[in-house]
Amino acid sequence: MAAFDPAVAVDVGASPSQPAAWYCDQLERGKVIFFGNVPFDFPQEDRTFLLAQKQTGSRLHKNISYRPASDALNGVSAGSPDRERMHSVMRKFSSESANFVAGFLAPYGGMLKLDFSSFRPLEEQGRDLSLHKRNDLLHVDAFPSRPTHGGRILRIFVNVNPSAGRVWKLGKPFHDFLPKVAQANRLSPTYRGAAGRALARVAAGVGLPVPVRSRYDEFMLYLHDWLKESDDFQKNSGAREVVFPPGCCWMVYTDGVPHAVLSGQYALEQTFIVPRAALVTAEVAPVSVLESTTGTAMAS
Ligand code: SIN
Ligand code: FE
Repeated sequence: MAAFDPAVAVDVGASPSQPAAWYCDQLERGKVIFFGNVPFDFPQEDRTFLLAQKQTGSRLHKNISYRPASDALNGVSAGSPDRERMHSVMRKFSSESANFVAGFLAPYGGMLKLDFSSFRPLEEQGRDLSLHKRNDLLHVDAFPSRPTHGGRILRIFVNVNPSAGRVWKLGKPFHDFLPKVAQANRLSPTYRGAAGRALARVAAGVGLPVPVRSRYDEFMLYLHDWLKESDDFQKNSGAREVVFPPGCCWMVYTDGVPHAVLSGQYALEQTFIVPRAALVTAEVAPVSVLESTTGTAMAS
């Protein structure tokens, strides 16, 4: 198994040696930004608490998620004695990681949109999931209920596990693989027509919980499934195995870099949506690549 691989990641080292815009550019081009230690406050008591959460008990579900905008915790039952503590650990992780990312990637300024965060207490190796839900198959991320309209999905992870690495596969970035895949295969997403999209907008406008998806969002959901279904892509797309060691932290645009998690237990993650207008290298954004590949405007 390969150790941490500099060909797919930029190691920030003890402190950033490059201007912030350079890190934004590297991320947008598909590199992982790697920190050997967590670069924001993450107390030892919080780590110990998270590691004490046992996957076998009925106390915890698959993933625990936290929604910063509404301060809502999901995935821990209401009666659990650990609920309050889990809530405060997630709240702190979310705000500390968000403050860090806002400073480290300063060119994104006030345009970073804070999305959900999650705690992943299950061992990833050997999970019994349906094909489209499997995390050990290469895919790009897309959220069925949270369309981005061309905005990018940026995630920061922490491997909380003190003794085992989190093992990923990482593929070539979107602007590299997508044109080749599209040329070699008949990709045929089913877009709802303009009328369908207009109807969803009206429904959402009167408060119905209907996601208003753009062509881009529909394509990305389709691509997520298509990549997992493609044996050829899984085997022959040149993905590399990378080990994220105990206690490390990393950032990556998971909408653009095909990724899979092969093993590992106890990760924390915070997601951001970065709007197209905030990007420093917008031409490699999946929405731009798709627009030039298909010749169609995708973001509405
Ligand atoms: C994923 O986004 O596919 C999962 C990554 C992880 O949990 O390590
Ligand atoms: Fe993913």
